[in-house]
Amino acid sequence: TVLVVDFGAQYAQLIARRVREARVYSEIVPSTMPVAEMLAKNPAAIILSGGPSSVYAEGAPRLDRELFEAGVPVFGMCYGFQLMAATLGGTVDNNGAREYGRTDLHVTKTSSTLFEGTPAEQPVWMSHGDACSAAPEGFTVTASTDLVPVAAFENDEKKLYGVQHHPEVMHSTYGQQVLEHFLYRGAGIKPTWTTGNVIEEQIAAIRAQVGDKRAICGLSGGVDSAVAAALVQKAIGDQLTCVYVDHGLMRKGETEQVEKDFVAATGANLKVVDAEERFLNALAGVSDPEEKRKIIGREFIRVFEQAQLEILQEDGPEVAFLVQGTLYPDVVESGGGTGTANIKSHHNVGGLPDDIEFELVEPLRQLFKDEVRMVGQELGLPAEIVQRQPFPGPGLGIRIVGEVTKDRLDLLREADAIAREELTAAGLDSEIWQCPVVLLADVRSVGVQGDGRTYGHPIVLRPVSSEDAMTADWTRMPYEVLAKISTRITNEVADVNRVVLDVTSKPPGTIEWE
Ligand code: XMP
Repeated sequence: TVLVVDFGAQYAQLIARRVREARVYSEIVPSTMPVAEMLAKNPAAIILSGGPSSVYAEGAPRLDRELFEAGVPVFGMCYGFQLMAATLGGTVDNNGAREYGRTDLHVTKTSSTLFEGTPAEQPVWMSHGDACSAAPEGFTVTASTDLVPVAAFENDEKKLYGVQHHPEVMHSTYGQQVLEHFLYRGAGIKPTWTTGNVIEEQIAAIRAQVGDKRAICGLSGGVDSAVAAALVQKAIGDQLTCVYVDHGLMRKGETEQVEKDFVAATGANLKVVDAEERFLNALAGVSDPEEKRKIIGREFIRVFEQAQLEILQEDGPEVAFLVQGTLYPDVVESGGGTGTANIKSHHNVGGLPDDIEFELVEPLRQLFKDEVRMVGQELGLPAEIVQRQPFPGPGLGIRIVGEVTKDRLDLLREADAIAREELTAAGLDSEIWQCPVVLLADVRSVGVQGDGRTYGHPIVLRPVSSEDAMTADWTRMPYEVLAKISTRITNEVADVNRVVLDVTSKPPGTIEWE
Protein backbone atom coordinates (compact mmCIF):
# COMPACT_ATOMS: atom_id res chain seq x y z
CA THR A 1 0.00 0.00 0.00
CA VAL A 2 1.02 3.56 -0.74
CA LEU A 3 -0.35 6.04 1.77
CA VAL A 4 -1.40 9.45 0.49
CA VAL A 5 -1.36 11.90 3.40
CA ASP A 6 -4.14 14.43 2.90
CA PHE A 7 -3.21 17.99 3.85
CA GLY A 8 -6.67 19.31 3.22
CA ALA A 9 -6.90 20.24 -0.43
CA GLN A 10 -8.81 18.39 -3.11
CA TYR A 11 -5.59 16.93 -4.45
CA ALA A 12 -5.29 13.81 -2.29
CA GLN A 13 -8.01 11.90 -4.15
CA LEU A 14 -6.50 12.77 -7.47
CA ILE A 15 -3.07 11.60 -6.30
CA ALA A 16 -4.52 8.33 -5.03
CA ARG A 17 -6.12 7.76 -8.42
CA ARG A 18 -2.90 8.51 -10.28
CA VAL A 19 -1.05 6.03 -8.09
CA ARG A 20 -3.63 3.40 -8.95
CA GLU A 21 -3.35 4.28 -12.63
CA ALA A 22 0.29 3.33 -12.14
CA ARG A 23 -1.10 -0.04 -10.93
CA VAL A 24 -0.11 0.45 -7.34
CA TYR A 25 -2.71 0.28 -4.57
CA SER A 26 -3.14 3.51 -2.62
CA GLU A 27 -5.09 4.75 0.37
CA ILE A 28 -5.75 8.22 1.70
CA VAL A 29 -5.08 9.04 5.36
CA PRO A 30 -5.68 12.36 7.14
CA SER A 31 -2.62 14.41 8.09
CA THR A 32 -3.84 14.31 11.69
CA MET A 33 -3.13 10.58 11.89
CA PRO A 34 -0.15 10.00 14.22
CA VAL A 35 3.00 9.01 12.33
CA ALA A 36 3.29 5.80 14.35
CA GLU A 37 -0.14 4.78 13.12
CA MET A 38 0.83 5.50 9.51
CA LEU A 39 3.97 3.42 9.86
CA ALA A 40 2.04 0.63 11.52
CA LYS A 41 0.20 0.18 8.22
CA ASN A 42 3.52 -0.94 6.78
CA PRO A 43 3.33 1.31 3.72
CA ALA A 44 5.57 0.65 0.72
CA ALA A 45 5.78 4.42 0.29
CA ILE A 46 4.18 7.62 1.53
CA ILE A 47 3.09 10.60 -0.54
CA LEU A 48 2.46 13.98 1.06
CA SER A 49 -0.22 15.94 -0.79
CA GLY A 50 -0.57 19.65 -1.38
CA GLY A 51 -2.68 21.76 0.95
CA PRO A 52 -3.90 25.30 1.45
CA SER A 53 -1.68 26.27 4.43
CA SER A 54 1.64 28.00 4.78
CA VAL A 55 4.13 25.84 6.70
CA TYR A 56 4.85 28.72 9.05
CA ALA A 57 1.24 29.64 9.75
CA GLU A 58 -0.01 28.98 13.24
CA GLY A 59 -1.95 25.72 13.39
CA ALA A 60 -0.66 24.58 9.99
CA PRO A 61 -0.52 20.78 9.76
CA ARG A 62 2.91 19.33 10.56
CA LEU A 63 4.54 15.95 10.53
CA ASP A 64 6.75 14.25 13.01
CA ARG A 65 10.36 14.08 11.81
CA GLU A 66 10.17 10.38 12.55
CA LEU A 67 8.23 9.89 9.32
CA PHE A 68 11.31 10.81 7.29
CA GLU A 69 13.62 8.63 9.34
CA ALA A 70 11.72 5.35 9.21
CA GLY A 71 13.33 4.17 5.98
CA VAL A 72 10.00 4.41 4.11
CA PRO A 73 10.31 6.24 0.76
CA VAL A 74 8.51 9.61 0.89
CA PHE A 75 7.43 11.91 -1.94
CA GLY A 76 6.29 15.44 -1.02
CA MET A 77 4.22 17.51 -3.44
CA CYS A 78 3.60 21.26 -3.06
CA TYR A 79 2.73 21.74 0.62
CA GLY A 80 4.14 18.26 1.28
CA PHE A 81 7.37 19.35 -0.39
CA GLN A 82 7.65 22.50 1.70
CA LEU A 83 6.85 20.58 4.85
CA MET A 84 9.58 18.08 4.06
CA ALA A 85 12.02 20.95 3.42
CA ALA A 86 11.11 22.82 6.61
CA THR A 87 11.09 19.72 8.83
CA LEU A 88 14.50 18.53 7.65
CA GLY A 89 16.28 21.88 8.02
CA GLY A 90 15.85 23.52 4.62
CA THR A 91 14.54 27.05 4.16
CA VAL A 92 10.99 27.92 3.17
CA ASP A 93 9.98 31.56 3.07
CA ASN A 94 7.42 33.92 1.83
CA ASN A 95 9.60 35.94 -0.51
CA GLY A 96 6.88 36.92 -2.92
CA ALA A 97 7.69 34.10 -5.33
CA ARG A 98 4.08 33.13 -5.88
CA GLU A 99 3.23 30.93 -8.83
CA TYR A 100 -0.27 29.91 -9.83
CA GLY A 101 -1.11 27.84 -12.86
CA ARG A 102 1.07 26.76 -15.73
CA THR A 103 4.76 27.37 -15.09
CA ASP A 104 7.96 26.37 -16.90
CA LEU A 105 10.06 23.97 -14.89
CA HIS A 106 13.80 23.93 -15.58
CA VAL A 107 15.10 20.49 -14.75
CA THR A 108 18.71 20.96 -13.67
CA LYS A 109 19.45 17.30 -13.18
CA THR A 110 17.84 15.19 -15.91
CA SER A 111 19.62 12.08 -14.66
CA SER A 112 17.76 12.30 -11.34
CA THR A 113 15.49 9.53 -10.11
CA LEU A 114 12.31 11.54 -10.66
CA PHE A 115 13.10 13.32 -13.90
CA GLU A 116 15.13 10.82 -15.90
CA GLY A 117 13.90 10.57 -19.47
CA THR A 118 11.84 13.75 -19.27
CA PRO A 119 12.79 17.04 -21.02
CA ALA A 120 14.96 19.71 -19.40
CA GLU A 121 12.15 22.22 -19.92
CA GLN A 122 8.65 21.05 -19.03
CA PRO A 123 5.30 22.64 -18.26
CA VAL A 124 4.01 22.03 -14.73
CA TRP A 125 1.05 23.21 -12.65
CA MET A 126 1.97 25.33 -9.65
CA SER A 127 -0.13 26.72 -6.82
CA HIS A 128 1.89 28.17 -3.97
CA GLY A 129 2.60 31.36 -2.04
CA ASP A 130 5.68 30.27 -0.05
CA ALA A 131 8.78 28.89 -1.74
CA CYS A 132 11.81 26.79 -0.84
CA SER A 133 15.07 28.73 -1.13
CA ALA A 134 17.47 26.16 0.31
CA ALA A 135 17.23 22.37 0.31
CA PRO A 136 17.97 20.43 3.50
CA GLU A 137 21.44 18.99 3.96
CA GLY A 138 22.12 15.85 1.97
CA PHE A 139 19.58 16.77 -0.74
CA THR A 140 20.34 17.49 -4.40
CA VAL A 141 18.35 20.23 -6.10
CA THR A 142 16.96 18.79 -9.33
CA ALA A 143 14.80 21.60 -10.74
CA SER A 144 14.06 25.31 -10.52
CA THR A 145 11.74 27.89 -12.07
CA ASP A 146 12.31 31.55 -12.99
CA LEU A 147 11.07 32.57 -9.54
CA VAL A 148 11.95 29.61 -7.34
CA PRO A 149 15.53 28.34 -6.97
CA VAL A 150 14.53 25.03 -5.38
CA ALA A 151 11.52 23.58 -7.24
CA ALA A 152 12.45 19.91 -6.74
CA PHE A 153 14.97 17.94 -4.71
CA GLU A 154 15.91 14.42 -3.79
CA ASN A 155 17.96 12.41 -1.38
CA ASP A 156 18.34 9.08 -3.11
CA GLU A 157 20.16 7.46 -0.24
CA LYS A 158 17.34 8.19 2.21
CA LYS A 159 14.65 7.71 -0.48
CA LEU A 160 13.18 11.16 0.07
CA TYR A 161 11.85 13.13 -2.89
CA GLY A 162 9.95 16.34 -3.41
CA VAL A 163 8.56 18.67 -6.07
CA GLN A 164 7.00 22.10 -5.66
CA HIS A 165 4.48 21.50 -8.46
CA HIS A 166 1.45 19.22 -8.73
CA PRO A 167 2.47 16.19 -10.80
CA GLU A 168 -1.02 14.72 -10.38
CA VAL A 169 -2.84 17.30 -12.50
CA MET A 170 -3.24 16.97 -16.23
CA HIS A 171 -1.44 20.23 -16.97
CA SER A 172 1.83 18.85 -15.62
CA THR A 173 2.66 17.06 -18.85
CA TYR A 174 5.23 14.65 -17.42
CA GLY A 175 3.56 14.37 -14.02
CA GLN A 176 2.47 10.75 -14.33
CA GLN A 177 5.98 9.80 -15.43
CA VAL A 178 7.51 11.62 -12.47
CA LEU A 179 5.09 9.88 -10.11
CA GLU A 180 5.85 6.48 -11.64
CA HIS A 181 9.57 7.15 -11.34
CA PHE A 182 9.06 7.70 -7.65
CA LEU A 183 6.99 4.55 -7.24
CA TYR A 184 9.02 2.18 -9.41
CA ARG A 185 12.55 3.60 -9.21
CA GLY A 186 12.57 5.54 -5.95
CA ALA A 187 10.45 3.19 -3.84
CA GLY A 188 11.10 0.02 -5.87
CA ILE A 189 7.42 -0.93 -6.02
CA LYS A 190 6.22 -3.32 -8.73
CA PRO A 191 3.07 -2.35 -10.67
CA THR A 192 0.86 -5.32 -9.91
CA TRP A 193 -2.44 -3.86 -8.78
CA THR A 194 -5.23 -4.58 -11.30
CA THR A 195 -9.01 -4.78 -11.31
CA GLY A 196 -8.57 -8.55 -11.68
CA ASN A 197 -6.84 -8.59 -8.30
CA VAL A 198 -9.58 -6.48 -6.79
CA ILE A 199 -12.21 -8.93 -7.93
CA GLU A 200 -10.36 -11.93 -6.53
CA GLU A 201 -9.60 -10.20 -3.26
CA GLN A 202 -13.17 -9.01 -2.81
CA ILE A 203 -14.67 -12.39 -3.63
CA ALA A 204 -12.55 -13.97 -0.91
CA ALA A 205 -13.47 -11.20 1.54
CA ILE A 206 -17.20 -11.44 0.78
CA ARG A 207 -17.17 -15.22 1.22
CA ALA A 208 -15.41 -14.86 4.54
CA GLN A 209 -17.83 -12.20 5.72
CA VAL A 210 -21.12 -13.75 4.61
CA GLY A 211 -20.33 -17.42 5.27
CA ASP A 212 -23.42 -19.51 4.58
CA LYS A 213 -25.95 -16.82 5.46
CA ARG A 214 -28.00 -14.88 2.91
CA ALA A 215 -27.70 -11.32 1.62
CA ILE A 216 -29.98 -8.90 -0.17
CA CYS A 217 -29.17 -6.04 -2.47
CA GLY A 218 -31.29 -3.19 -3.81
CA LEU A 219 -30.73 -2.54 -7.49
CA SER A 220 -31.43 0.98 -8.70
CA GLY A 221 -30.43 0.52 -12.32
CA GLY A 222 -27.33 2.63 -11.66
CA VAL A 223 -23.72 1.53 -12.14
CA ASP A 224 -22.67 1.16 -8.50
CA SER A 225 -25.43 -1.08 -7.22
CA ALA A 226 -25.23 -3.23 -10.36
CA VAL A 227 -21.49 -3.80 -10.03
CA ALA A 228 -21.70 -4.42 -6.27
CA ALA A 229 -24.47 -6.97 -6.83
CA ALA A 230 -22.58 -8.70 -9.65
CA LEU A 231 -19.49 -8.99 -7.47
CA VAL A 232 -21.40 -10.41 -4.52
CA GLN A 233 -23.32 -12.76 -6.81
CA LYS A 234 -20.04 -14.08 -8.13
CA ALA A 235 -18.87 -14.67 -4.57
CA ILE A 236 -21.94 -16.27 -2.99
CA GLY A 237 -24.26 -17.16 -5.89
CA ASP A 238 -27.79 -18.06 -4.80
CA GLN A 239 -27.27 -16.78 -1.29
CA LEU A 240 -27.86 -13.32 -2.77
CA THR A 241 -31.26 -11.96 -3.75
CA CYS A 242 -31.48 -8.66 -5.62
CA VAL A 243 -34.52 -6.45 -5.27
CA TYR A 244 -35.51 -4.01 -7.97
CA VAL A 245 -38.39 -1.66 -7.34
CA ASP A 246 -40.08 -0.61 -10.58
CA HIS A 247 -41.75 2.64 -9.61
CA GLY A 248 -42.98 3.35 -13.11
CA LEU A 249 -40.76 6.44 -13.31
CA MET A 250 -37.98 4.71 -15.25
CA ARG A 251 -36.97 5.55 -18.77
CA LYS A 252 -37.90 3.41 -21.74
CA GLY A 253 -36.26 0.00 -21.65
CA GLU A 254 -34.59 0.45 -18.27
CA THR A 255 -36.57 -2.06 -16.26
CA GLU A 256 -36.20 -4.60 -19.06
CA GLN A 257 -32.47 -3.93 -19.07
CA VAL A 258 -32.23 -4.87 -15.41
CA GLU A 259 -34.59 -7.83 -15.82
CA LYS A 260 -32.89 -9.27 -18.88
CA ASP A 261 -29.35 -7.97 -19.33
CA PHE A 262 -28.36 -7.92 -15.69
CA VAL A 263 -29.71 -11.37 -14.99
CA ALA A 264 -28.24 -12.73 -18.23
CA ALA A 265 -24.82 -11.36 -17.36
CA THR A 266 -24.79 -12.38 -13.71
CA GLY A 267 -27.31 -15.17 -13.22
CA ALA A 268 -28.49 -13.35 -10.10
CA ASN A 269 -31.72 -14.07 -8.24
CA LEU A 270 -33.83 -11.05 -9.02
CA LYS A 271 -37.06 -10.00 -7.39
CA VAL A 272 -38.77 -7.28 -9.41
CA VAL A 273 -41.52 -5.47 -7.58
CA ASP A 274 -44.02 -3.82 -9.88
CA ALA A 275 -45.10 -0.79 -7.87
CA GLU A 276 -46.13 1.58 -10.64
CA GLU A 277 -49.73 1.88 -9.56
CA ARG A 278 -48.80 2.49 -5.97
CA PHE A 279 -46.39 5.29 -6.88
CA LEU A 280 -48.78 6.94 -9.34
CA ASN A 281 -51.58 6.86 -6.80
CA ALA A 282 -49.34 8.44 -4.20
CA LEU A 283 -48.26 11.12 -6.66
CA ALA A 284 -51.76 11.95 -7.93
CA GLY A 285 -52.55 15.64 -7.70
CA VAL A 286 -49.05 16.64 -6.55
CA SER A 287 -47.04 19.27 -8.46
CA ASP A 288 -44.63 20.59 -5.86
CA PRO A 289 -41.11 19.23 -6.56
CA GLU A 290 -40.10 18.72 -2.93
CA GLU A 291 -43.35 17.01 -2.11
CA LYS A 292 -42.91 14.71 -5.11
CA ARG A 293 -39.40 13.82 -3.98
CA LYS A 294 -40.59 13.06 -0.46
CA ILE A 295 -43.43 10.87 -1.65
CA ILE A 296 -41.18 8.91 -4.01
CA GLY A 297 -38.55 8.41 -1.30
CA ARG A 298 -41.12 7.29 1.25
CA GLU A 299 -42.92 4.87 -1.06
CA PHE A 300 -39.60 3.46 -2.19
CA ILE A 301 -38.58 2.53 1.34
CA ARG A 302 -41.96 0.98 2.03
CA VAL A 303 -41.90 -1.18 -1.07
CA PHE A 304 -38.30 -2.17 -0.56
CA GLU A 305 -38.92 -3.19 3.02
CA GLN A 306 -41.99 -5.17 2.05
CA ALA A 307 -39.82 -7.08 -0.42
CA GLN A 308 -37.19 -7.64 2.27
CA LEU A 309 -39.82 -8.97 4.59
CA GLU A 310 -40.97 -11.44 1.96
CA ILE A 311 -37.42 -12.65 1.44
CA LEU A 312 -36.91 -12.96 5.19
CA GLN A 313 -39.95 -15.20 5.37
CA GLU A 314 -38.74 -17.55 2.65
CA ASP A 315 -37.12 -20.76 3.83
CA GLY A 316 -33.37 -20.74 4.02
CA PRO A 317 -30.46 -19.49 6.10
CA GLU A 318 -30.65 -16.23 8.00
CA VAL A 319 -30.70 -13.06 5.89
CA ALA A 320 -28.04 -11.08 7.68
CA PHE A 321 -26.40 -8.88 5.07
CA LEU A 322 -27.32 -5.88 2.97
CA VAL A 323 -25.14 -5.13 -0.06
CA GLN A 324 -24.44 -1.48 -0.85
CA GLY A 325 -22.51 0.17 -3.67
CA THR A 326 -20.59 2.64 -1.48
CA LEU A 327 -17.56 4.09 -3.32
CA TYR A 328 -14.21 5.29 -2.02
CA PRO A 329 -14.95 9.02 -2.39
CA ASP A 330 -17.99 8.55 -0.09
CA VAL A 331 -15.78 6.74 2.42
CA VAL A 332 -13.13 9.47 2.37
CA GLU A 333 -15.69 12.24 2.62
CA SER A 334 -17.38 10.69 5.61
CA GLY A 335 -14.09 10.54 7.49
CA GLY A 336 -12.48 7.35 6.21
CA GLY A 337 -12.24 4.23 8.27
CA THR A 338 -12.16 0.63 7.18
CA GLY A 339 -14.73 -0.98 9.46
CA THR A 340 -18.15 -2.10 8.32
CA ALA A 341 -21.03 -0.26 9.92
CA ASN A 342 -24.13 -1.85 11.30
CA ILE A 343 -27.31 -0.19 10.20
CA LYS A 344 -30.80 -0.69 11.42
CA SER A 345 -33.40 -0.67 8.73
CA HIS A 346 -36.23 1.87 8.94
CA HIS A 347 -38.60 -0.63 10.47
CA ASN A 348 -40.83 2.12 11.72
CA VAL A 349 -42.27 2.61 8.25
CA GLY A 350 -42.18 -0.80 6.65
CA GLY A 351 -43.07 -3.12 9.48
CA LEU A 352 -39.86 -5.14 9.69
CA PRO A 353 -39.46 -6.97 12.98
CA ASP A 354 -37.69 -4.88 15.61
CA ASP A 355 -34.75 -7.19 16.00
CA ILE A 356 -33.68 -7.32 12.35
CA GLU A 357 -30.31 -5.76 11.80
CA PHE A 358 -28.27 -6.03 8.67
CA GLU A 359 -24.55 -5.97 8.43
CA LEU A 360 -23.35 -4.10 5.37
CA VAL A 361 -21.37 -5.68 2.56
CA GLU A 362 -19.64 -2.92 0.62
CA PRO A 363 -17.31 -4.48 -1.94
CA LEU A 364 -16.62 -1.19 -3.77
CA ARG A 365 -15.44 0.77 -0.73
CA GLN A 366 -11.89 0.94 -2.05
CA LEU A 367 -12.74 1.98 -5.59
CA PHE A 368 -13.18 5.11 -7.63
CA LYS A 369 -15.99 5.37 -10.18
CA ASP A 370 -13.84 4.60 -13.21
CA GLU A 371 -12.43 1.55 -11.42
CA VAL A 372 -15.98 0.39 -10.63
CA ARG A 373 -16.74 0.61 -14.34
CA MET A 374 -13.67 -1.51 -15.13
CA VAL A 375 -14.66 -4.11 -12.54
CA GLY A 376 -18.18 -4.19 -14.00
CA GLN A 377 -16.81 -4.68 -17.47
CA GLU A 378 -14.55 -7.46 -16.31
CA LEU A 379 -17.51 -9.15 -14.62
CA GLY A 380 -19.27 -9.18 -17.97
CA LEU A 381 -21.91 -6.53 -17.38
CA PRO A 382 -23.12 -4.92 -20.63
CA ALA A 383 -21.86 -1.46 -21.62
CA GLU A 384 -25.42 -0.08 -21.30
CA ILE A 385 -25.19 -0.69 -17.56
CA VAL A 386 -21.50 -0.06 -16.95
CA GLN A 387 -21.17 3.15 -18.95
CA ARG A 388 -24.49 4.53 -17.82
CA GLN A 389 -24.74 8.27 -17.24
CA PRO A 390 -26.15 9.48 -13.91
CA PHE A 391 -29.92 9.26 -13.51
CA PRO A 392 -31.75 10.55 -10.43
CA GLY A 393 -33.38 8.09 -8.03
CA PRO A 394 -36.82 9.80 -8.34
CA GLY A 395 -36.55 9.20 -12.09
CA LEU A 396 -38.86 10.89 -14.54
CA GLY A 397 -41.03 11.98 -11.61
CA ILE A 398 -38.84 15.08 -11.28
CA ARG A 399 -38.60 15.62 -15.04
CA ILE A 400 -42.27 16.36 -15.47
CA VAL A 401 -42.90 19.92 -14.36
CA GLY A 402 -46.43 19.59 -13.02
CA GLU A 403 -48.44 16.60 -11.92
CA VAL A 404 -47.07 13.15 -12.74
CA THR A 405 -49.52 10.94 -14.64
CA LYS A 406 -49.16 7.74 -16.63
CA ASP A 407 -49.92 9.50 -19.94
CA ARG A 408 -47.35 12.17 -19.29
CA LEU A 409 -44.76 9.59 -18.29
CA ASP A 410 -45.36 7.64 -21.49
CA LEU A 411 -45.03 10.80 -23.54
CA LEU A 412 -41.78 11.80 -21.81
CA ARG A 413 -40.41 8.26 -22.16
CA GLU A 414 -40.87 8.49 -25.94
CA ALA A 415 -39.19 11.89 -26.20
CA ASP A 416 -36.34 10.84 -23.92
CA ALA A 417 -35.73 7.63 -25.89
CA ILE A 418 -35.43 9.64 -29.11
CA ALA A 419 -32.96 12.10 -27.57
CA ARG A 420 -30.85 9.30 -26.13
CA GLU A 421 -30.87 7.40 -29.40
CA GLU A 422 -29.67 10.42 -31.38
CA LEU A 423 -27.02 11.40 -28.83
CA THR A 424 -25.64 7.88 -28.93
CA ALA A 425 -25.77 7.79 -32.74
CA ALA A 426 -23.83 11.07 -32.83
CA GLY A 427 -21.17 9.59 -30.53
CA LEU A 428 -21.82 12.19 -27.83
CA ASP A 429 -22.41 9.90 -24.84
CA SER A 430 -18.96 10.25 -23.34
CA GLU A 431 -18.73 13.96 -24.09
CA ILE A 432 -21.99 14.82 -22.36
CA TRP A 433 -22.26 14.25 -18.61
CA GLN A 434 -26.01 13.69 -18.90
CA CYS A 435 -28.94 15.13 -20.81
CA PRO A 436 -32.17 15.37 -18.85
CA VAL A 437 -35.22 15.58 -21.10
CA VAL A 438 -37.97 17.53 -19.37
CA LEU A 439 -41.70 17.80 -20.06
CA LEU A 440 -43.35 21.13 -19.24
CA ALA A 441 -46.70 19.53 -18.61
CA ASP A 442 -48.57 22.65 -17.57
CA VAL A 443 -47.33 24.78 -20.46
CA ARG A 444 -48.92 24.81 -23.88
CA SER A 445 -48.01 26.72 -26.99
CA VAL A 446 -49.55 27.15 -30.42
CA GLY A 447 -48.09 25.34 -33.38
CA VAL A 448 -48.97 24.26 -36.87
CA GLN A 449 -48.61 20.70 -38.03
CA GLY A 450 -49.96 19.33 -41.28
CA ASP A 451 -52.85 21.62 -42.11
CA GLY A 452 -53.97 22.31 -38.63
CA ARG A 453 -53.35 24.34 -35.56
CA THR A 454 -51.88 22.46 -32.58
CA TYR A 455 -51.81 23.41 -28.94
CA GLY A 456 -49.20 21.14 -27.40
CA HIS A 457 -46.47 20.88 -24.77
CA PRO A 458 -42.81 21.85 -24.99
CA ILE A 459 -39.97 19.41 -24.31
CA VAL A 460 -36.75 20.83 -22.85
CA LEU A 461 -33.34 19.39 -23.67
CA ARG A 462 -30.81 19.92 -20.89
CA PRO A 463 -27.41 18.60 -22.09
CA VAL A 464 -24.67 19.41 -19.55
CA SER A 465 -20.93 18.97 -19.29
CA SER A 466 -19.53 18.41 -15.82
CA GLU A 467 -16.78 16.76 -13.80
CA ASP A 468 -18.74 15.91 -10.68
CA ALA A 469 -22.26 17.39 -11.04
CA MET A 470 -21.44 20.04 -8.40
CA THR A 471 -20.98 22.59 -11.17
CA ALA A 472 -21.90 22.20 -14.81
CA ASP A 473 -22.10 24.06 -18.07
CA TRP A 474 -24.55 23.54 -20.90
CA THR A 475 -22.99 21.48 -23.64
CA ARG A 476 -22.30 23.21 -26.94
CA MET A 477 -23.81 20.48 -29.04
CA PRO A 478 -23.72 20.34 -32.84
CA TYR A 479 -26.78 22.10 -34.35
CA GLU A 480 -27.37 19.16 -36.69
CA VAL A 481 -27.86 16.78 -33.75
CA LEU A 482 -30.21 19.24 -32.03
CA ALA A 483 -32.14 19.66 -35.27
CA LYS A 484 -32.52 15.92 -35.71
CA ILE A 485 -33.73 15.43 -32.13
CA SER A 486 -36.18 18.32 -32.48
CA THR A 487 -37.61 17.09 -35.78
CA ARG A 488 -38.01 13.55 -34.54
CA ILE A 489 -39.61 14.47 -31.22
CA THR A 490 -42.15 16.86 -32.75
CA ASN A 491 -42.98 14.36 -35.51
CA GLU A 492 -43.07 11.21 -33.46
CA VAL A 493 -44.39 12.22 -30.06
CA ALA A 494 -48.07 13.15 -29.97
CA ASP A 495 -48.95 16.34 -28.10
CA VAL A 496 -45.44 17.80 -28.32
CA ASN A 497 -45.11 20.65 -30.80
CA ARG A 498 -41.98 22.42 -29.57
CA VAL A 499 -38.45 21.50 -28.43
CA VAL A 500 -36.37 24.03 -26.52
CA LEU A 501 -32.74 24.01 -25.40
CA ASP A 502 -31.71 24.92 -21.84
CA VAL A 503 -28.61 27.16 -22.03
CA THR A 504 -28.10 27.74 -18.29
CA SER A 505 -24.97 26.77 -16.40
CA LYS A 506 -24.98 25.38 -12.81
CA PRO A 507 -25.02 27.60 -10.85
CA PRO A 508 -27.45 29.32 -11.19
CA GLY A 509 -29.56 26.46 -12.61
CA THR A 510 -29.41 22.95 -11.18
CA ILE A 511 -28.95 20.09 -13.63
CA GLU A 512 -32.43 18.72 -13.06
CA TRP A 513 -35.44 21.03 -13.32
CA GLU A 514 -36.90 19.94 -10.00
P1 XMP B 1 -28.86 18.78 -9.57
O1 XMP B 1 -30.21 18.81 -10.21
O2 XMP B 1 -28.91 18.93 -8.08
O3 XMP B 1 -28.29 17.32 -9.86
O4 XMP B 1 -27.90 19.75 -10.20
C1 XMP B 1 -26.97 16.92 -9.59
C2 XMP B 1 -26.83 15.45 -9.99
O5 XMP B 1 -27.56 14.63 -9.10
C3 XMP B 1 -28.56 13.90 -9.80
N1 XMP B 1 -29.74 13.89 -8.92
C4 XMP B 1 -30.09 12.85 -8.15
N2 XMP B 1 -29.55 11.62 -8.01
N3 XMP B 1 -31.24 11.06 -6.44
C5 XMP B 1 -30.15 10.73 -7.16
O6 XMP B 1 -29.69 9.58 -7.05
C6 XMP B 1 -31.83 12.28 -6.51
O7 XMP B 1 -32.82 12.55 -5.84
C7 XMP B 1 -31.23 13.21 -7.42
N4 XMP B 1 -31.52 14.49 -7.78
C8 XMP B 1 -30.60 14.88 -8.69
C9 XMP B 1 -28.75 14.64 -11.10
O8 XMP B 1 -29.23 13.78 -12.13
C10 XMP B 1 -27.37 15.14 -11.37
O9 XMP B 1 -26.54 14.12 -11.92
